[in-house]
Parts: sequence; structure tokens; C-alpha cells
Amino acid sequence: MKPKLLVTRHIYPEAIDLLSGHAEIEYHDDSAGLSAQALRGALTDKQAVICQLTDTIDAAVIDAAINLKVIANVAVGFDNIDVPAASGKGIVVTNTPGVLTDTTADCAFALLMAAARRVTEAERFLREGHWHQWEIDLLVGRDVHHQTLGILGMGRIGRAVARRAGGFGMQILYHDALRVPADTESELGLRFVDKETLLREADFVSVHVPLNEATRHYLGAPELALMKPGAILVNTSRGPVVDEKALAVALAEKRIAGAGLDVFEHEPEVEPGLLALDNVVIVPHIGSASIKTRTRMCTMAAENVLAVLSGSRPPNPVNPEVLGD
Ligand code: GLV
Repeated sequence: MKPKLLVTRHIYPEAIDLLSGHAEIEYHDDSAGLSAQALRGALTDKQAVICQLTDTIDAAVIDAAINLKVIANVAVGFDNIDVPAASGKGIVVTNTPGVLTDTTADCAFALLMAAARRVTEAERFLREGHWHQWEIDLLVGRDVHHQTLGILGMGRIGRAVARRAGGFGMQILYHDALRVPADTESELGLRFVDKETLLREADFVSVHVPLNEATRHYLGAPELALMKPGAILVNTSRGPVVDEKALAVALAEKRIAGAGLDVFEHEPEVEPGLLALDNVVIVPHIGSASIKTRTRMCTMAAENVLAVLSGSRPPNPVNPEVLGD
């Protein structure tokens, strides 16, 4: 008998092609997702699930999933999954690291540049018919090149953003719980500083920390107050890392100059205070959204499932202790 797999939402067909023949698939080929109750019901007889960051896999869902061996998240972040609860039941949780690093760094840099040069505001201005002539101070913004970038979180994506910043001649400060190796610091031109120094000195602050209890509201009103009045904040990590209400106030009062945001505290809701502002570029969580990357994320999740179901080691476990490591 083939193992049973739940795929909670639409994924790229390449992943379904990999899986078919190896599992009996309950495929919800749409973007609606399952209610908590439906999810619990659907998981009772499944050995595997492929889920997305919009699916909450909490302890109650995990408790109901009495046959489950693997939870394969199609994302690098896994804050939607109660990993300790899964580990407690011996369930492997996997993610999709690496493949989306450069795509997400591109997005962070696009937001940084768009906010600095007021690209979306300028486009709105033009489309709304306000452009009558070239003017010396029309929609003037801020330089990106040769400015100081502060990167909070120097993991894979933070480093990829640093590489891009190097091409723009930027000075790069960073802060992380752990300092990166000295050769990485010198290769990327990084200067390690404490969080407060970074916030005080950077012209741009880009956030690349995972969401966990230590990083919830990592940037709140006190941290935003340390930033330069001309500074721009970019967040492509997770919304709750930034206190969105405090950010809206700081932006409205021009205590910082702008922001570029891909992620929000209560997606798909966006703090109304932010929507009302021109000095914020907002996009709907599209950090990893290139066709190639999203396809690869789906096939990676499929490979993780296939490995666990065939009794081999999955390539991307986030709780390797379950595998006996
Ligand atoms: C997207 O936000 C991801 O975590 O992959």
C-alpha cells in the first residue's frame, strides 16, 4: 500500500510529478487552504504533508496526525509549525533553504532601492496625471550607493544582501547573535557592531532574522527611535519582527524617512497607518516569488517527503534530532 500524502494547497506541477507513483495524494489544488478542523481531519491517516507558511501546523494539528512522519514546509521559515511538538512525536520537519537566498536578497534590494528613489510613489504620481514638467526637486530621493547599510541577521540571505551592497560601494554593518567567521567578514567587507550602533549609524537597515520568541518585535518604538531621520527600513523576513504600528507612527512623523516591506504582522492585513503613507513601499510577501525559485521550493519539499517515506535522510530537516543526530 502506498503511503498517504496531504498537499494542503496548490504547488508547482513538477513537484506533483515527482510524487505521483510514490504516494496516494490528497491534493488541494487551490489556494484556499484547509480550516484547522479540516486539516486535523485530513491528517489523521496521512504519513506526510506538504504545507505552506499560510498553514498553521500547531500542537493540536500535530496531536491529531497520529500517522504522520514528515511535515515538509514549502518555505525557508517555519514559524507556522510547532517544531517542538512535532519533535516530541518523532515527526521530521523540513524546509527549503538555500534555493531562495538570492531571489529573496534581490527582493530586499529592490525594496531598498524603490524606497530610496521613491519609485512606487513616482509611478503613482505619473499614472495619476500629476506630471507636467521636469522640475529640479521633483520626487528627489536618497542615494543608495556609498551609503551605510546595516544588516540585522547575517545568515544566508543577509550575506546575499551584503554581496549586492558591495556592488553599490556601500559600507556594511551587521549584527547577529553570532559573529560570522573572520574570512566571511573580510570577503564581504562586514563590520560587526551591536544592534544599537547599527541602528544609530545605518542609512538603510535590512532585517534578515528568523521569527521566534526572541525576535518578535525585535524592532519596536525604542529601536526605531535610534534610527537616523533619513534612514530607510527594509523587512523581507517576517512581519512580527517589526512592530508595525510603531513603524507606521515613525514613518508618519518622518522620524525615519521610509520603509520597504514585503512582510506584515497579520498577513494579508496591512496596518492601515502604513497603507496611508507615501514613504513606504509595500508588496505582498513576494520575497521568493520567481518562477524558478518557487518551482524549486516545491520540488525540494517533494524530495524531503520522498526521502522520509523511503526511510532515508531528508536533505533539509529543521529538527535533525528526530533523525537520531
Ligand atoms: C518565505 O517567506 C519563506 O520563508 O520561504
